[in-house]
Amino acid sequence: MTTSSTEIENAMSNTAGCPFHARSLPSDGTPLAPSPRFAEWREQGAFVPLDFQDGHEGLVATRYDAVVSVLQDPRFSMLPARMPVGPATLDEPKSEGAAAAVPLELPGDLDEAAQASELLNLLTLDGAEHSKLRRAVTARFTVRQARSREPWIRDMIAGEVARIRGSKDVVDLWHDYAMPISARTHCHVIGIPPQKYEDFVELFVEPSTAQQKYDFIRALLEERRNDPGEDVITDLLNNPELTQIEIEGLLRLLMGAGRDSVAYLIATASVALLTHPEQMELLRSDVEGVRPAVEEFMRAGSMFVTLFARTATEDVEIEGTIIRAGTSVAVSPVAANRDPAHWGENPEQFDVTRDAFGHIGFGYGIHGCIGQQVARVEIREAITALLEGFPDISLVSAEQLEPHPFAHPVAVYEAGEVLVRLTTA
Ligand code: HEM
Repeated sequence: MTTSSTEIENAMSNTAGCPFHARSLPSDGTPLAPSPRFAEWREQGAFVPLDFQDGHEGLVATRYDAVVSVLQDPRFSMLPARMPVGPATLDEPKSEGAAAAVPLELPGDLDEAAQASELLNLLTLDGAEHSKLRRAVTARFTVRQARSREPWIRDMIAGEVARIRGSKDVVDLWHDYAMPISARTHCHVIGIPPQKYEDFVELFVEPSTAQQKYDFIRALLEERRNDPGEDVITDLLNNPELTQIEIEGLLRLLMGAGRDSVAYLIATASVALLTHPEQMELLRSDVEGVRPAVEEFMRAGSMFVTLFARTATEDVEIEGTIIRAGTSVAVSPVAANRDPAHWGENPEQFDVTRDAFGHIGFGYGIHGCIGQQVARVEIREAITALLEGFPDISLVSAEQLEPHPFAHPVAVYEAGEVLVRLTTA
C-alpha cells in the first residue's frame, strides 16, 4: 500500500478515524531492534503524518530515497527547530550532545554575548551563514586529518584497556571505556589540553549550565591564544573572518556535539557483537574486518531515530508527495538504514560482512556529520582493542536491550549501562 499526496493532506487535515492518523514516534524500539512501526510506515508511503511538540502536524520520512531527497534539498530549512512527539517529551535533555546541537530555548541567565553565540548553531543555520561557519572547522575533520590522529588514538585506547583490565572484573563499557575514549579524543582534536580533561568531562559530559560552558570556553581561548597547536581552537583563533561570538558559538557546539554519539556507538557496537557471538568470532579471526564493519555498526545501531526536522520553505514535490511550505519533516536514519528497497534482503539482520557504506547514521548532505572520519577511527580502534585485549569478554547486562525513553526529543537512543565481564570467572 502506498500513500498519495492527497491521502496525506486528508490525513493531516482530518485525522479522526483515519488510518494515517497523525502520530508520535513509537516507544517500543531499542537501538538494535527498532520499533516494527517504522517498517509499517515505510510500507505506507514515502511520508506519513507525525505530530510535533508545538502542535504542528508534520511528516516523517522512513524510506531511504525520500530521506536522501529531503536532506539534499536546499528548499528545506533547519528552522523553526521543531521536535517530534516521542515516548519522552523531556524538559531537560539527558543527552548533552544532542542538547548542544539545538537549544530548545535560550537559557535566561546567559550573558548577552553567549546568547548571540547560542544562535549561531550550525544545526539551526541555512545557506551562506551555515557554509561560512562550517567551512571554518571542516579542515580539521578530513579523512587525512583523521588518519594522522590514528597513532594517538590507538595509544590512548591502549591506556584505557590497561586501566579497565586492572580495575575490576565487571565494568560498564559505556562509562568506563567508551565515554573516556570519546571525551579524550574530543579534547585532543578540539585543542583542550590534557590537564583540562576532568573539567571538560564535568561540564560537557555531566550536566552543567550553558553559562558555565561559555566561561570555560572563554578561559580556554585566552590560554590558547599564545599557544598554537594542530587543533580546531588554533584554526579558529587564526581565522580572520570569524568574530569572537562566532568562535565561541562554534566551540560550544563542537564540544558538545558528537562526543556522546561516539560513546554510544562504541557501547552499542559492543552489545551487537556480544549478542551475536558468531559475528564477533568473524571479526576476531580477521580484525582487518573491523574497518568496514564500522559501517554496519552505524547502520544497524544508528543513534538517531529522527534527525533535526527540516521545514519546507516552499511547496516541494518528492516521490509524488507535495510537501506544503511550512510543513516540517522528520527524516529517520533508523528506518532508512533498514529499507529493503535500498539494502535488499534481510536489512534487519546484523551482518559485519555487509557492504553498509551509504547508511544515514551520520546524516547526509550539507549538514552531514562533520566529525564522521575521526568518529570512524575511534569506533574502529575501540572495538579492535576490545576484541584483541579481552578474548573471554561476556555480556552481563545491557540497559539498551529493553526500550527506554529517548535521550532527547530530537529523538536519539541512549547507550545506557553495558555491564561486561572481562575474564572468564
Ligand atoms: C558516531 C559518532 C557520531 C554520530 C552518529 C554523529 C551523527 C551526526 C548526525 C546524524 C548529524 C546530522 C544531524 C542532522 O542533519 O540533523 C551530525 C552533525 C554534526 N556532527 Fe556528528 N556524529 C558523530 C560524531 C561527531 C563528532 C566526533 C563530532 C565533532 C567532533 C561531530 C560534530 C557534528 C557537527 C558539528 C554537526 C553539525 C553539522 C552541520 O550542521 O553542518 N559529530 N552528526
